[in-house]
Amino acid sequence: MRKILFDSDTASDDTLALLLAIRKFEVLGVTIVAGNVGFENQVRNALFTLEYFGYDAPVFLGPRRPIMGIWKTVEEVHGANGLGGWNFPEPSKSPDSEFAADALLRISKAYSGELEILAVSPLTNIALAYLKDPAVVRRVKKLWVMGGAFYRGNTTQIAEFNFWVDPEAARIVLNAGFDVTIVPWETAEQSACISKADWEDIARRKTKASEFFVRSNAALLNYSLRSGAEGSVHPDSLTAAIAFDQSIVTEAKTLAVDVETCAGGRGAMLLDSYGLTGKQPNASVVYRADSSKFRELVLSQLS
Ligand code: BDR
Ligand code: CA
Repeated sequence: MRKILFDSDTASDDTLALLLAIRKFEVLGVTIVAGNVGFENQVRNALFTLEYFGYDAPVFLGPRRPIMGIWKTVEEVHGANGLGGWNFPEPSKSPDSEFAADALLRISKAYSGELEILAVSPLTNIALAYLKDPAVVRRVKKLWVMGGAFYRGNTTQIAEFNFWVDPEAARIVLNAGFDVTIVPWETAEQSACISKADWEDIARRKTKASEFFVRSNAALLNYSLRSGAEGSVHPDSLTAAIAFDQSIVTEAKTLAVDVETCAGGRGAMLLDSYGLTGKQPNASVVYRADSSKFRELVLSQLS
């Protein structure tokens, strides 16, 4: 089974992505990074998700802020605790004491050439690991990243949340030399929307997994609908789905990609579509994905 490390600011869609990950990969650990909601809530959400689905993997904590410390959490998207306000039982396990970036480096040595990282969050942990030990690039087989917007920023006019929270980390990681695939925001808007009709179907199933989905993504559904979507939008789950089944990608381009770190442009994804920078391509960017395949994969896990 493919071995992955799941890097996450665990709230609503992150937990569905984590469910897909534990069903389809061997998840060697979950590393938590500052992002969506209060840090302690993200940790509880990750521990609870693993426990709810009976999966034993360590949870490692990263720093409680991005590198420059400039960001805001988005409880209005994910609910006060990040899981739609679901008053779930306290997880029985505690997080591991090893720092997330150190755990990443240790696991990358134990599974050198085999480990894949599924990063559905700001890239702080991966940047810190790389700064401590740049050779990590050669040990990680693949880095899957949810991040960046083409032109419809969901946090500023041009920036997607994960790249906006820690653009310095994103810049460090994208220029480090990893084998990277990026799944940007608009690709998810187009292809990873669970419609209201699907929600009704999922709610009727009344399975453990369907109940988890409905409760943990309730706030996300409302937010997505208010933003003009026809259902809940799932960028993290699409990234997990693509990591599992690359045939979900219907159009991708290999480009030199960077991230803006200044003023109003902070977090903007810079795509060199015409080779203007003279830089070597450093990432495969997913432009389009197969919404039917994504939907089928998600629905099949909620039975
Ligand atoms: C990304 O930001 C977060 O709110 C989500 O978890 C997702 O990773 C979407 O821009
Ligand atoms: Ca996320």
